[in-house]
Amino acid sequence: MSKRIGIIGFGEMGKRHALEFREATCGMITIAGVVEPDDLKYRQGCGWNHLEEIPRYGSITELLERGKPDGVLITSPNYMHYAHLLELADFHNPILLEKPLDTTLENIVRIVRFARGHRGIILVDHVMRYAPIIQEAKRMIESGLIGKVCSFEFSQRIDAGAMYHTFRRSIAKGGGHMIEKATHDLDVALFLTGAMPENVVMVSRRQLYGGTRPDDLCCSNCPDVLKCDSANLSHRNAVDNFKDIDVTNDLCVFAREVDVPDNESCLIQCRGGIFGSYSHNYFSRQAGRSRSYEIIGTKGALFLEMAAAPDYQGVIHYYPRNLEGKTDVRKYNYFGKIHYNGGPYLARHFYSLMTGAETQPYTTVDQAFLAEALGLAAMESAKAGRFVSLAEIVPEDLKDVLNGENAQ
Ligand SMILES: NC(=O)c1ccc[n+]([C@@H]2O[C@H](COP(=O)([O-])OP(=O)(O)OC[C@H]3O[C@@H](n4cnc5c(N)ncnc54)[C@H](O)[C@@H]3O)[C@@H](O)[C@H]2O)c1
Repeated sequence: MSKRIGIIGFGEMGKRHALEFREATCGMITIAGVVEPDDLKYRQGCGWNHLEEIPRYGSITELLERGKPDGVLITSPNYMHYAHLLELADFHNPILLEKPLDTTLENIVRIVRFARGHRGIILVDHVMRYAPIIQEAKRMIESGLIGKVCSFEFSQRIDAGAMYHTFRRSIAKGGGHMIEKATHDLDVALFLTGAMPENVVMVSRRQLYGGTRPDDLCCSNCPDVLKCDSANLSHRNAVDNFKDIDVTNDLCVFAREVDVPDNESCLIQCRGGIFGSYSHNYFSRQAGRSRSYEIIGTKGALFLEMAAAPDYQGVIHYYPRNLEGKTDVRKYNYFGKIHYNGGPYLARHFYSLMTGAETQPYTTVDQAFLAEALGLAAMESAKAGRFVSLAEIVPEDLKDVLNGENAQ
């Protein structure tokens, strides 16, 4: 049964989802139409999808009325998500909403309330949960291989590149990396460990990016580009771009607008004595260390290299607590796919939601809310200089996410 999707924001993720959804379902998903205000992005999206013309609509209303999609993807910039979701209030087919839910606590909370009252399914693109390597780690932990989970240590190390040359460089447009980027990592930490976060404290610094350069300065028109070691060198290779973020973006990372911290580290206390740490840095390029996850239990530990050098495979190291020193290693080929090969599984799930073969979203708004509430509480703690409990920032009517019933 073929299904047609509408896409709001046909930029990097929009165009990639369109192709991936088609390929992963062997052509069962096609594009009903897109809403994309930028002519160049629209043309690049058609090119990426090997299509000359894709129906393009001037508004979401027009997309719904004329395109009649079976499902809609919201892949616009973070700070537009709530506004775009509101326009789908009377649309009851499945919606895929990109992470993060939005950029502010206020709008994130509005989205959670909207989702609870909405008649249709809303799936959040927490794509890492679908990745075979994460699914396997989850099975290993649930089977009791590492015993009772005690602690976790997650870290992320990537360079400026994609993050600070795009809209993500400001809190107003991206929300800050504790929700823009760490949404995935915090969500995976909670998913794998089953832990329910209670309090968090963070040290947050902006140590390299930002400055006094004009907000409209780009590497491509900067007189100092050859002297700058943060310049975007890859902006002519977008077609072959392996990354999920448009490398044609080359906004200056030293502009006045840049206010997103680039080096942060937090400690998380969870219910039942579990604790964990998460840290990320955006100016230290370390091959193979983009994402490293360690989970320690009473009977052993798992260490996941999400993109191990030199071939960017996923590796699970299993260290049972034994006297022989026996270990176990499992490797995951991503077949050249981004998102650790989670995308095709997400696509098939969305297809099943559209056909009705499945009726429950695998990655929910409540799960995303919990991860983002943790990120926002961490940001608050960095300002306050003390532990902040999630209960302090989650409104009364949504406190049930903190008891774990809806969010794990
Ligand atoms: N799940 C993931 O792993 C993942 C990875 C990358 C990006 N994302 C998310 O996807 C979203 C888009 O990111 P991106 O990297 O594709 O950004 P992008 O800038 O490449 O694409 C966003 C597109 O939205 C368009 N747009 C702007 N205003 C619009 C409007 N009013 N209506 C419709 N479209 C509009 C822009 O012109 C642009 O083409 C973000 O929320 C981002 O966080 C998720």
